[in-house]
Parts: sequence; C-alpha cells; structure tokens
Amino acid sequence: MQDKKITIAIDGFSSTGKSTLAKQLARRLNYIYVDTGAMYRAVTLYALQQGFISVSHFDEQGLVTHLPKVTLKFVFNTEVAHSEVFLNNVNVEHDIRSMEVSNYVSKIAALPQVREKLVEQQRFMGREKGIVMDGRDIGTVVFPDAELKIFMTAGADARARRRFDELTGQGRDVSYEEVLKNIEERDYIDSNRKDSPLQKAVDAIEVDNTNLSIDAQFEKILKLATAVL
Ligand code: DC
Repeated sequence: MQDKKITIAIDGFSSTGKSTLAKQLARRLNYIYVDTGAMYRAVTLYALQQGFISVSHFDEQGLVTHLPKVTLKFVFNTEVAHSEVFLNNVNVEHDIRSMEVSNYVSKIAALPQVREKLVEQQRFMGREKGIVMDGRDIGTVVFPDAELKIFMTAGADARARRRFDELTGQGRDVSYEEVLKNIEERDYIDSNRKDSPLQKAVDAIEVDNTNLSIDAQFEKILKLATAVL
C-alpha cells in the first residue's frame, strides 16, 4: 500500500476509452473516479428537458440563468461497481448517453458559465487527491499540477466502431455513420472552442490506442502511475 496519493488527469478525444482506463486505474489504486463528461452531459439533458436547446434554437441566457438550480452528484452503485450521475436527485446515468445528448453536449460545454460551475465542483472533488478524472481540460485547466497526465488519441474510425458497438450493445438504435459524424463534430467543437479547448498539456504523455488492447494499455499506464507514487 502506498501512502502518497496523486491526481491522475486523463484527457483526449471522444471515445478514446478514457473512462475504461480511468475506471481500471481507480479500482486498482483504490482512488475516486470522476467522469467529467457525465457532468456536461447531465447539464445538456437539463437544457433539453427545460427546452433551452433544440434543433432550431439555443437559449443560452435562459440556461445560464437557471444554472444555480442544477445540482449534480455522483452516487456509487455497488451492483455495477461504479458511480452514477444524478441530476437534481434523479439518476440520469442511462439518459445522458443517448445520441440526442451527444449531439448537443459540445455546444453546452462551450459555455464559459457552465464550465466555471463544473470546474469548481471538479476541483472540490479532487481536493484531497487520490483521484482519477477524465475529460478534455483536466490536465490543462482543472488540475494543471496533476502528477500524472495522459492524453489519449485513436483514429476516428476505430473510435466510432467502438462507440457503435457499445451503443448497439446497450440496445440503442443508431447507425455507424451517425456515430462517426457525431464524433467528428465533437472533436471539432471541443478542440476549437474559446474556453478551455481540448489540447494536450505540455507535460502530458500521449497514448495512441488505435492498436493497443485494453489490458496492454492499462499495464502501460499503471507502470507510469506507480513510478510516480
Ligand atoms: O467524455 P464524453 O464524451 O462523455 O464528454 C461529452 C462532452 O462533454 C464532450 O464532447 C466535451 C464535453 N467535455 C468537456 O468539454 N470537458 C470535459 N472535461 C469533459 C467533457
């Protein structure tokens, strides 16, 4: 058992397997795991439910005004052995993974007021270290002093194939083309927004897992983590 607890930041493009890796590390190191994408997705679900965003309009001001009414929390579900996100005390873990939420989330995540609120909560969750957090700006903005930063990449095709398999495995009705288009659009918006764009921190280690198995990737990063512990 190590006494020293560190912060592990995992950033990268959509569907690069960040959460799979983050969960594996958290379990092995007995750390807290936080999926920050789930937080942006939950705010997006809220915006959809309240009618602040749709195909034809985006009432940014309306959403910003209502942000204080949005409460997010993670609750550990022992049956599935990971945390699930709750929006205003309702478990939305399944609903936030829909294609509809995926189609709007990058627009919501580009709003500085949304980012400010969620980043504050993320820093609070990580204040005692012993945390693995995945997202887009964890190593650059949320925890610039994280002891280990990983930046994950993989080809768009490989990512779309994995995501498509995952969604159809959950019984969702999606096409491969739709998933690929969503991934490419999110890559573009997430990388080009003004506030906290997705970029590799200068001190992050880049891992391209297009041809890397989940186990090989885990062993590789676990070595990096234990070297810092
Ligand atoms: O990790 P994910 O695909 O579930 O994230 C959903 C979206 O949320 C992603 O397209 C961009 C946004 N996001 C972000 O802007 N910053 C983060 N730290 C995490 C996610």
